[in-house]
Amino acid sequence: MLDSTKLNPADEIVLGRDFMTLSQHVLSQIGTFSAEAYDLSALMGRIGLAGKTIARHLSRAGLVENVLGVTGEVNVQGEAVKNMDRYANRVFLRAFEQSGLVCRLASEEMEKPYYIPENCPIGRYTLLYDPIDGSSNIDVNLAIGSIFSIRQQEGNDESGEALDLLQSGRKQIGAGYILYGTSTMFIYSLGKGVHAFTLDPSIGEFILFQEHIKIPNKGSVYSVNEGNFWQWDEPMREYVRYMHRQVGNTARYSGALVADIHRILFQGGVFLYPGMVGHEDGKLRLLYESAPLAFLIEQAGGRATTGLQEILDVIPDRLHARTPLIIGSSENVKEVESFLNK
Ligand code: AHG
Ligand code: MN
Ligand code: MN
Repeated sequence: MLDSTKLNPADEIVLGRDFMTLSQHVLSQIGTFSAEAYDLSALMGRIGLAGKTIARHLSRAGLVENVLGVTGEVNVQGEAVKNMDRYANRVFLRAFEQSGLVCRLASEEMEKPYYIPENCPIGRYTLLYDPIDGSSNIDVNLAIGSIFSIRQQEGNDESGEALDLLQSGRKQIGAGYILYGTSTMFIYSLGKGVHAFTLDPSIGEFILFQEHIKIPNKGSVYSVNEGNFWQWDEPMREYVRYMHRQVGNTARYSGALVADIHRILFQGGVFLYPGMVGHEDGKLRLLYESAPLAFLIEQAGGRATTGLQEILDVIPDRLHARTPLIIGSSENVKEVESFLNK
């Protein structure tokens, strides 16, 4: 007689994985059932909810209004705001209102942090985020992402200037990104390894894809916008010329940092956004782009540097500060440094 409570081993493995959801994984990472563990699990769940909402909206691009195109506004970075930038920024705000989890949110799309005073007595975290990374890919249906960083709020921030955020990336409690690609993926770290989840849209859950991801020590991919070649310093140009000459190297550049980093996390290589003439700090913003990705890549065994300093040691002088970024497999980053230090 068939015992329906017993499964064959292969089925058990499949079922075990199918039931490891993001929230459950966060709890298992922290290893206690403390209030803090539940807060972080809920917080990650709300970020996941924002990601699912954004993914759903993106899937209707071209079918409903205001997914594609620009709003006509210019953000604090001086860049044209896309409809999706504005929508995704608001999705994150709404996901955290009345959550009791996060006191402040700061994003690429807002000049100053957004306060949720009713959350502040209990929610001492600040969420920093890039709501849509790779905005130029939206209108052509290519991969984009969202990046997030979680910090503990220090002090009461009575001035509203969020000066406590102007500290190094080592202050991050956790970080991650959501990739809106052929599937939607959620990658996070709470300082105990890097873990990846794939959205199963049929049940609306992020399901574990891979735990404790390790970036290869070396990879053949270099990822940089070579259109800026003549804007770089000579050592950077020399490095790229060197890469051209090495058989087996290959260039990959998608226009979305999240997508390029995702490839490098799994397959190795290096992503570069160097300083340029007139823009010595490059393009990428430290607090909600470079620092969270540096946190993840270090957790995966890789490295991230400005060329002079580890990204996680950089102390920004303002919320929207930029830094040059060289990030990826440790051997590749070392190779770039050997050119910069010549
Ligand atoms: P964002 O869309 O948040 O402004 O970020 C775009 C970033 C990053 O995703 C990408 O790697 C880079 O800008 C592309 O810039 P270039 O077009 O200058 O290469
Ligand atoms: Mn970005
Ligand atoms: Mn953005």
